[in-house]
Amino acid sequence: MSASRELEGRVALVTGASSGMGRREADLLAEAGATVILADIIDADGEAAAQALVAAGLRARYCHLDVSSPADWAAAAADIGAREGRVDILVCNAGANGSAAPDVLSSDLLDKLIAINLRGTFLAVQTMRPLMGKGASIVTIGSICAKVGTPGVHMAYHATKGAIVAFTKAAAAELGPNGIRVNCINPGVMPPMRDRRGASHGTRDKLIERIPLRRTGEWDDVANVVVFLATDKAAYISGADIPVDGGFLAT
Ligand SMILES: NC(=O)c1ccc[n+]([C@@H]2O[C@H](COP(=O)([O-])OP(=O)(O)OC[C@H]3O[C@@H](n4cnc5c(N)ncnc54)[C@H](O)[C@@H]3O)[C@@H](O)[C@H]2O)c1
Repeated sequence: MSASRELEGRVALVTGASSGMGRREADLLAEAGATVILADIIDADGEAAAQALVAAGLRARYCHLDVSSPADWAAAAADIGAREGRVDILVCNAGANGSAAPDVLSSDLLDKLIAINLRGTFLAVQTMRPLMGKGASIVTIGSICAKVGTPGVHMAYHATKGAIVAFTKAAAAELGPNGIRVNCINPGVMPPMRDRRGASHGTRDKLIERIPLRRTGEWDDVANVVVFLATDKAAYISGADIPVDGGFLAT
C-alpha cells in the first residue's frame, strides 16, 4: 500500500486496465487515493482487477469500453458524468501491437492499429475533455517505437505511436490554457503485450544488450511515472514525451 495518498479525492480513468501496465497503473493510482475507473474490452479480467482493489479498501469500478468506438466513449462520458461528475486523471494506455510474427506491412493490421492506438487516444481526449478542469492530467502511452525503428514490429505500430507523441504535444498546447497538462510516456522493452506473447526470446535478449541498464522494464517502472505525472509534483510538466526505457533511446 502506498504511504502517500496524494491523489485522494481525484477521479482517474485508465484504458486498457484489464492487464499489463494499465492494470498496474490502476492499482497504483488507487493506492495513491484516486477513485479509479478501469476500462477495457476483456470484461472478466477488468471486473476482477476492480474487485481486487475494492476488496483492499480502495475505490475502483470497471467499465466496458472499446477505445476505438465513438459510441462506447460517448456512453462512458455520460456514465462518468452522471456518477463521478468529472475526470481528473486520464491515462490513454490501451494499445494493440499486432502479433508475435506479424507481416510488418499488412493492411488489415494497419486499420486495426490506427483504430485502437491513435483513434482510441484521440477519442479519449475528445470525449473526456468536457469532464476535465484545472489541475487535470492526461497521460498518453507511446513507445520507444515512436522514436526509432524496431525490426519485427508492425510499421503501423511505430506510426501510431509516433502520432501519439505529436498528438500529445498538440493537446498540451490546446489544453494548457485551461490548466490541463498532457504528457506522453514512451516505455521501452517491457513484458510482452498480450498480442505479442510468444515472440522469440532471442529478440528480447538481443534488445537487452542495447539497454544501458541491462534489463527489460517492469510494469511498475511505467506505472510509477504515471502516478507522478498525475500528482501536483508534476504541476509544471506538460507536452513532454518521457522515455522509461533503461536508457535505450540514449544510445
Ligand atoms: N509491452 C511493451 O513492451 C510495450 C512497450 C512500449 C509501449 N507499450 C504500450 O503500453 C501500453 C500497455 O501495453 P501492455 O504491455 O500492458 O500490453 P497488454 O496487451 O497487456 O495491455 C493492453 C490492454 O489494452 C486492452 N485493449 C486492447 N484493445 C483495446 C480496445 N480496443 N479497447 C480497450 N482496451 C483495449 C487489452 O485488452 C489489454 O488489457 C500499450 O499502449 C502499448 O502499446 C508496451
